[in-house]
Amino acid sequence: MKKLYLIGNMKMNMSIAELEPYFENITTIASQSSNVVGVCVPYVYLDMAQGMLNGSKVLYGAQNMHFQDSGAYTGEISANMLEDFGCDLVVLGHSERRAYFHESDEEINLKVKKALEKGITPILCFGETLEEREGSMAHSVVERQIVGALADLGEEDVSRIIFAYEPVWAIGTGVSATSEQAEEMISFAKRLIADEFGVNNSIMLYGGSLKPSNAEDILSKPSIDGGLIGGACLKLQDFEQLINTKVE
Ligand code: 13P
Repeated sequence: MKKLYLIGNMKMNMSIAELEPYFENITTIASQSSNVVGVCVPYVYLDMAQGMLNGSKVLYGAQNMHFQDSGAYTGEISANMLEDFGCDLVVLGHSERRAYFHESDEEINLKVKKALEKGITPILCFGETLEEREGSMAHSVVERQIVGALADLGEEDVSRIIFAYEPVWAIGTGVSATSEQAEEMISFAKRLIADEFGVNNSIMLYGGSLKPSNAEDILSKPSIDGGLIGGACLKLQDFEQLINTKVE
C-alpha cells in the first residue's frame, strides 16, 4: 500500500465554531489512517490548531508567510511567528498568491529558504494557467517556477520540501486534470528535480478539484504521492474519504 499525503488547504474559509468539531474529529480520523494528514489553516486559527492538534497525528500549518524575521511589514506574518505556534507546514507560492498578490519566483525562493531555516516544511506550489497549457508553455512555466523557487538550494534542503503540482485551470473549477495529465507533469517535475538538485525521491502532490470521486484514479498514478485539497477539505465527510484513500 502506498503511503499518501492528504493535506487540506482551507484558504479563507472556516470559523471557530466550525473548526471546533472539525479538529476534534480529524484527529480521530487521522489516527485510524496509515496516510499522512495535514491542514493549512488561516493564521488566526493557528492558536486553536496548536491547542487541539498538537500531539496528534495531524500536521498543521499556514498558507503563506513573509520572508523577513520581523520589521515594518504591516499585516504580514513571519516564520518565527509560525514557529511560535508549532507549525509543521507552510504553503508557499500558491497560484492564488502569485495571481492576486503578485508573488514572484524570487520572493517565493526567499520564503522557501526562510521556512527551511526555521524547520517548517514548505509545500511549494507550481502549475500553469490554461493559456499557458494551450500555448504549449506548460512545461517551460513549471520548469521556471521550480528552478526559480529553488535557486541557491542544495540537495539536503530540496529533499525537505513537499511539492504540489496545481494546474491553475483545475483549481476550484470542479474539473481536475486527468490522471494522465497529472502523472505526466509530476513525473516531468520529479525528473527535473533529480537532474538539477540530485534529489531522486521528492514528494509531489497533485492539487486541483481533487475529491472522493476522482481520488483513487489520480492518486494511484506511480509518481503522485498525495493531494493538496481545497474545497473538499472543508467538508469533513469528503476529507475523511480522501484521507482513507488506499492505493497500491
Ligand atoms: P480545490 O481543491 O478547491 O480545487 O483547490 C485546490 C488548491 O488550490 C489547493 O491548494
